[in-house]
Amino acid sequence: MKENRAQFATRLGVIATTVGSAVGLGNIWRFPYETGVHGGGAFLLIYVGFIFIIGVPVICAEFIMGRSTRSNIFGAFRALHGRPQWAWIGYMGILASILILSFYSVVAGWTVEYFVQSVTGTLASLDAGSRHEAFDMFCTGWKPVMWTLVFLAVNAVILLRGVKGGIERVSNVLMPVLFVILIIFCINSLLMPGASEGLAFLFRPDFSKVDSGVLLGALGQAFFSLSLGLGTMLTYASYFSDRTPLVKSAVVTSALDTCVAVLAGVIIFPAVFTFGAEPSAGPKLVFEILPDIFHRLPWGALWSSLFFFLLFLASLTSTISMSEIGIAFFCEQFGLTRKKATLLNCLIAMVLGTLCALSFGPLRDMTVFGLTVFDLFDYVSSNILLPLGGMMISIFVGWFVDRGILRTQLRGTGSIKEWILRVIVFCLRYVAPAGIALVFLSGLGVI
Ligand code: PFF
Repeated sequence: MKENRAQFATRLGVIATTVGSAVGLGNIWRFPYETGVHGGGAFLLIYVGFIFIIGVPVICAEFIMGRSTRSNIFGAFRALHGRPQWAWIGYMGILASILILSFYSVVAGWTVEYFVQSVTGTLASLDAGSRHEAFDMFCTGWKPVMWTLVFLAVNAVILLRGVKGGIERVSNVLMPVLFVILIIFCINSLLMPGASEGLAFLFRPDFSKVDSGVLLGALGQAFFSLSLGLGTMLTYASYFSDRTPLVKSAVVTSALDTCVAVLAGVIIFPAVFTFGAEPSAGPKLVFEILPDIFHRLPWGALWSSLFFFLLFLASLTSTISMSEIGIAFFCEQFGLTRKKATLLNCLIAMVLGTLCALSFGPLRDMTVFGLTVFDLFDYVSSNILLPLGGMMISIFVGWFVDRGILRTQLRGTGSIKEWILRVIVFCLRYVAPAGIALVFLSGLGVI
């Protein structure tokens, strides 16, 4: 079975695919809205700190587990330690992947709607006030359900074509184009009248705004954005070749992912202050601001069509990666064919995604702890399941995996400086678990 596992064809393919998983709505939709909700600069600083102090070591840990065992998260725990009690981390990962896939597909569906509206010229034909009203009406209706289902169906079709053909080809072409477009939009935003206010909001930290909610939000965003803590990077690493340098791939992926998030912030916040919007508007923020940005640009409809198409593709490379967790699990653990596993995964997400899509309208009063289904899925997965999974993975790799395996994996076929290895092990043993535990405890009001 293991000998037959597919492998990524090239080094570029590895980076493009891990970046493809990391970069998506998390950077362009979730990062700006979380930054807005949590007060700006200080959130960004803490977020970036978490990415590099906790995120990079935990990605390395997932890479080590995946490549050394060439298996999914369950098989990896079993192969490396053999005790059944670690299996619950795998179940947590599967649960997180399905919850995320469900609400993520709703937002991806919004991008499809905006793409269609851009191409048909509807978006450009409305003035700012009626655009916001139209978006509100769209969100509260039934149409988002249709787009959520369409998106999930497209996701399933690509997955059925297998690892190399489907995932690599899409991500290889997509990422550089998206990057260039974002830079063009940044320049446009920097020329807006609200630019200095927007940049001050994003980059000038005000630590008086930091509380346990900001810490937990930044930690959750770091894990969400890096696709970390649920076994996505682990599953992808099981397809890496022995030559892939793990540390370098982890650093490059994190750096690029952070760049895209910051670019998105530089695009959104100058516009927020220029158009007098509320930075703390929540999940709808980016979708209300972006059309205003495009409206200002020459050939606005063209830019917005291109942008929403790319955002749709970026979402797709992310949903493909999170679906891989469930699919690999159903295949290897229950012996389902890839086709059946993909369809099962897709079907579960379709049911839950429908509930999420309706939670802005018909089901808005269906709440748990005051959160709608959409918000609940987002909060539970990003702020609880992913950091908890990441904490357990770092404890596992730091304390229970043989140091020889760590060394071999991190070294790969090249070499690695001894101090880098020590720093990573130190972070995995102490820094990441303690950091995550402290954020949790402060969230619970214990400290
Ligand atoms: N990292 C993705 C993003 O920022 O859009 C979201 C994501 C992908 C989360 C894959 C989790 C995952 F397994």
